[in-house]
Amino acid sequence: MTVASCVLDSLLIANRGEIACRILKTAKRMGIRVVSVYSDIDSNALHVKMADEAYRLEGVTSLETYLNQRKILDIARQANCQAIHPGYGFLSENVEFARACEENGVVFVGPSSEAIRAMGIKSTSKEIMLKAGVPVIPGYHGKEQDQEFLRDQAEQIGYPLMIKAVRGGGGKGMRIVSSSSAFQSQLESAQRESASSFNDSQVLLERFIPNPRHIEVQIIGDYHGNTVYLYERDCSVQRRHQKIIEEAPAPGISTELRTRLGNTGVRVARAVDYHNAGTVEFILDRETEEFYFMEMNTRLQVEHPVSEMITGVDLVQWQLMVASGQKLPLTQEDLQLKGHAFETRIYAENPNENFMPGAGTLTHLRPPQPSDTIRIETGVQEGDEVSVHYDPMISKLVVWDENRTLALNKMKKALSQYQIAGLDTNINFLMSLCSNEHFMKGDVHTGFIEEHKDQLLNRTLPETHTILEAGLSLLLKQLEQCRLQNAKSHKNVFSLLTGFRLNHSLVQSVQITHSNQDYIVRVAFISPSSYRVFLKSDPSTCLLIKNASLNQVSKSGYELVGEGETGKIKSSVVCLKDSVHVFTKNGSFQFTIPDKSYELEPADSGLSSVGQVVSPLPGMVDKVLVSLGQKVKTGDPIMVVIAMKMEYVISAGTSGIIEEIFYTAGQSIRKNQNLVKIVPI
Ligand SMILES: *[C@@H]1O[C@H](CO)[C@@H](O)[C@H](O)[C@H]1NC(C)=O
Ligand SMILES: *[C@@H]1O[C@H](CO)[C@@H](O)[C@H](O)[C@H]1NC(C)=O
Ligand SMILES: *[C@@H]1O[C@H](CO)[C@@H](O)[C@H](O)[C@H]1NC(C)=O
Ligand SMILES: *[C@@H]1O[C@H](CO)[C@@H](O)[C@H](O)[C@H]1NC(C)=O
Ligand SMILES: *[C@@H]1O[C@H](CO)[C@@H](O)[C@H](O)[C@H]1NC(C)=O
Repeated sequence: MTVASCVLDSLLIANRGEIACRILKTAKRMGIRVVSVYSDIDSNALHVKMADEAYRLEGVTSLETYLNQRKILDIARQANCQAIHPGYGFLSENVEFARACEENGVVFVGPSSEAIRAMGIKSTSKEIMLKAGVPVIPGYHGKEQDQEFLRDQAEQIGYPLMIKAVRGGGGKGMRIVSSSSAFQSQLESAQRESASSFNDSQVLLERFIPNPRHIEVQIIGDYHGNTVYLYERDCSVQRRHQKIIEEAPAPGISTELRTRLGNTGVRVARAVDYHNAGTVEFILDRETEEFYFMEMNTRLQVEHPVSEMITGVDLVQWQLMVASGQKLPLTQEDLQLKGHAFETRIYAENPNENFMPGAGTLTHLRPPQPSDTIRIETGVQEGDEVSVHYDPMISKLVVWDENRTLALNKMKKALSQYQIAGLDTNINFLMSLCSNEHFMKGDVHTGFIEEHKDQLLNRTLPETHTILEAGLSLLLKQLEQCRLQNAKSHKNVFSLLTGFRLNHSLVQSVQITHSNQDYIVRVAFISPSSYRVFLKSDPSTCLLIKNASLNQVSKSGYELVGEGETGKIKSSVVCLKDSVHVFTKNGSFQFTIPDKSYELEPADSGLSSVGQVVSPLPGMVDKVLVSLGQKVKTGDPIMVVIAMKMEYVISAGTSGIIEEIFYTAGQSIRKNQNLVKIVPI
């Protein structure tokens, strides 16, 4: 194996996306010259822009590009790089590549090729672990298939146990046996199904652990005999066997169990003479608190930042130090666990369609403000495509706080501040996960999402005011466009509206759709920049907003600002060609716009019915503009009502003669109260 004899000064990163950027940041901070490689799709990617030098990998498929061992080694030589960091995925656990690096005198930032090989084959690694005294799941994986023999094995393993077809897949030939008496019949049935499905009746037996936890230990070792653990992570909550949220430390674990997990992780690493960073995965029985070795990942993992957050260690820095032959800077005793960290993976996917991955353009991308305790690990920028060729992960959001409750709250808040428009994401899903009472209690296991899917996948519906804000934003945007287009045409109704002439009797409607539900939002113009917004289906809904404006803050990002009834309104809105997005504390809501989304309504519609003038809102009468017996026309102002410090002119819904006036200036009125009576002529 190759270890740099001195401090590294050049590094090739054989990866892309967030992990390439993550490694780049640390390497540059350490003063290392960094070389990136890229496929054509990635030629403008962040990891290319951030690098000191970047080399193209010709071709389309991953095999031709990021998996092209020969080409990558050639570039390393050409660019004079001492070392290659493989990141995760791609070549990170490739035995031949690690060996090729060793043979070519290039430092592979990772373990030796032998260690990768030993851990790469599950049966081999389990044998090594058994020898090293590391607990593995009790089971029988041998060739002997005699029924009596298997029954003996089953008694030794204990119940509940699982019978699995050796060639199995998709649950075929799999049985869970709860007691000794059921074994015989279940075995025969599993063998029959296995034979008919796979033309092979061979089965294996394994202790069955219902809804276990997936807990993994971060370890790192140097070439001076030091191996430490950086505590454990809980990654139990998964969908389609992929992690979406990870935390460190694992919740509800005693100090004694934590120490035992950590020490076992170190024992696993030592058993294969492991160097550099690695992760030992365990399955933990929630009932008995027993844990078993599953496998070891011989690379830096996606979720490594949560371990960094609770220990203050930069794992990439330690990886590069180890690779250059230095000692680990801290001993086990020096390492202190502090606080709690969460990581969520933000994916371009649709949770409501079985988490189907999506692709598309990140038309609007605004992450929360990063800080010492909020990390955003990403490899994309606004305008980038999320390509079908690679993982649909947009970014990782990592937060830290003093305890789990505080950290989870911080995560929720940060997720709500993560603005993405242009493609579907799992952000709302992650938010409901963070708000789930069982998750909040730390009651996690591998079947968590399946168990709580009704709750978790229950689409959060927008609050009424969110719908109204979306409608108003869309209308303001359209008015602004019309104003620009027709700046000179005085006949245009929009220029009248947006000019400084009072037109209190005009109502406009826009139609927007969310989750297959159509909403018609009506906007009544009270005075320039003051509006009453309500749903056509329910005129009692009401958003009153004064001094409203839609301010552009980025290419498609806006802020809807104004004064509402209970205080200032300031909402983040994104207007795209065919959708409006409103970002709220409870998640982001996407409203689609049908082709013909707005139309002019006849004056006064929705305000007063024939013969009556009603107050559409509670307030105080400021002025009465008519007197008894006066003749009025439709649309004539009748009264001025003050509500939330805003003047609201109420006008006649019909022509006629004022027969009665029910209020005088200074009186308060309730919503929908009759103000005057008009007798039509
Ligand atoms: C089933 O397995 C037997 C024994 O291994 C073999 O001889 C036979 O060709 C297989 N049949 C099919 C359809 O694969
Ligand atoms: C978390 O920390 C906050 C602030 O110190 C404290 O109020 C709260 O009780 C803590 N929660 C738990 C579960 O320890
Ligand atoms: C889904 O949400 C609706 C309303 O938002 C609620 O009435 C219903 O109980 C929820 N269903 C589940 C399974 O939580
Ligand atoms: C308000 O707008 C309507 C419709 O365009 C127009 O007929 C009316 O004259 C306007 N009223 C005022 C006071 O500007
Ligand atoms: C968020 O949800 C809560 C509870 O459903 C609701 O009271 C609150 O108004 C919502 N906030 C926003 C900004 O939508």
